[in-house]
Amino acid sequence: MNKLHLPLLISLFYMFVSIARSQVFDITTFGAKPDGDATQSLVSAWKEACAAANPAKIVVPKGTYSLLAVKFMGPCKAPITFEISGNFNAPPELAKFKNEDTWVKFENIVGLTVTGVSGGGSFDGQGQQAWKQNNCADTGSCDSLPYNFRFNVITNGEIAGIKSLNSKLYHMALLDCKNVTFNDLTIEAPKDSLNTDGIHIGRSKGVTVTNANIGTGDDCISMGDGAVDVHIEGVKCGPGHGISIGSMGRYPNEEPSKSITVKNCTFTDTENAARIKSWMNSYAASASDIHFEDITVNNVLNPIIINQEYCPYDQCKGKTPSKVKVSDVSFKNIKGTATSKETVKLWCSSGSPCDKVELADINLTFDGGPAVSECRNVKPITSGKQYPDPCGASGAAPGASPSTTNAAPVSSQAAPHASPK
Ligand SMILES: *[C@@H]1O[C@H](CO)[C@@H](O)[C@H](O)[C@H]1NC(C)=O
Ligand SMILES: *[C@@H]1O[C@H](CO)[C@@H](O)[C@H](O)[C@H]1NC(C)=O
Ligand SMILES: *[C@@H]1O[C@H](CO)[C@@H](O)[C@H](O)[C@H]1NC(C)=O
Repeated sequence: MNKLHLPLLISLFYMFVSIARSQVFDITTFGAKPDGDATQSLVSAWKEACAAANPAKIVVPKGTYSLLAVKFMGPCKAPITFEISGNFNAPPELAKFKNEDTWVKFENIVGLTVTGVSGGGSFDGQGQQAWKQNNCADTGSCDSLPYNFRFNVITNGEIAGIKSLNSKLYHMALLDCKNVTFNDLTIEAPKDSLNTDGIHIGRSKGVTVTNANIGTGDDCISMGDGAVDVHIEGVKCGPGHGISIGSMGRYPNEEPSKSITVKNCTFTDTENAARIKSWMNSYAASASDIHFEDITVNNVLNPIIINQEYCPYDQCKGKTPSKVKVSDVSFKNIKGTATSKETVKLWCSSGSPCDKVELADINLTFDGGPAVSECRNVKPITSGKQYPDPCGASGAAPGASPSTTNAAPVSSQAAPHASPK
């Protein structure tokens, strides 16, 4: 090759690369090596992608990368996609996180897609060391360890095919998001890892979670105040504490949580399945228009539970009734096996009784004897099959604790299965 042509070739090459770069930002072109550390290259790729005028794609090729805490902060000029064939490991040592509250943070982005492809997309938080340092049960302050992911102020997002493993604290948390979909997720941490909630949805509108396998040491999915228009479907949960709305009422000025559907989900070896909880001695708040439908439970302690007497770690300083209003809640087609005889617990607040709670087609059995339900400050509307008898209507269960107040259920229709035996 004539040497004179070399500079020309080089500049042509760079022109080509920069044209390609206007669309695709491969982290290996920013210095990442498979099996090396990807922190700097991801940060550099993000800077360019976020500044690009056209939709940009950040590509992570196959490899197992180590990754320190990173923040992907917008606003960006155009939507951004992460296409991830590689897998990531967090540092196990807390010292490497300095004061970061998150391993991988996305913030202030309109149009965010994060997809795991070709067997990639797994993020291992390596929380084994950190779990031992979790002192949340003693201090009541449970935010001292980093989450695997935070999504803050994300509009129009799609997260798919991602595996979040062994988070030091929560796996994923959303705050101030709009129109975000999670599909095909795997979230795993051991049963005895504290506060490793799967997905926490706080103050967000239009969140969909479909086809997820979630097994953790805490809630599979929890919804805080201001969770609105949430649709959860096709989730397998277990081990863990189930799918939960609340805890509501711990703080002043909480926004209402409403319009929430949980459908076609299976719970195996979990503490709860369908749960709504609010603190005792609470501030006023509300949870309404909440529907659990087509739920199967296997060996679940509390398949259906409204608990307005929530007071973990004795943190509620006083026992005055919850001021959280729970209304327009339905449990339809809920079936399976429980590990306690109280398979339906509707413990509403004496200070703010539940309104319009509906039980339809319930079959929750306990294999150690007859199942019972417990109702406090609620008159559920019942229809279809009812086992156990709602609010102990027939008094069928010997030894059931007589904890019912306002216990007579209201039947919305002739319910032959619910007639006293
Ligand atoms: C919701 O976000 C998706 C991208 O995940 C987008 O395609 C869709 O148009 C958005 N919907 C609305 C109503 O903005
Ligand atoms: C219910 O969810 C499971 C995943 O747990 C899925 O395979 C199945 O297709 C869903 N069924 C319906 C009727 O949507
Ligand atoms: C309720 O579920 C049990 C198994 O968990 C089943 O044997 C029984 O037939 C069911 N009852 C009705 C009325 O469907």
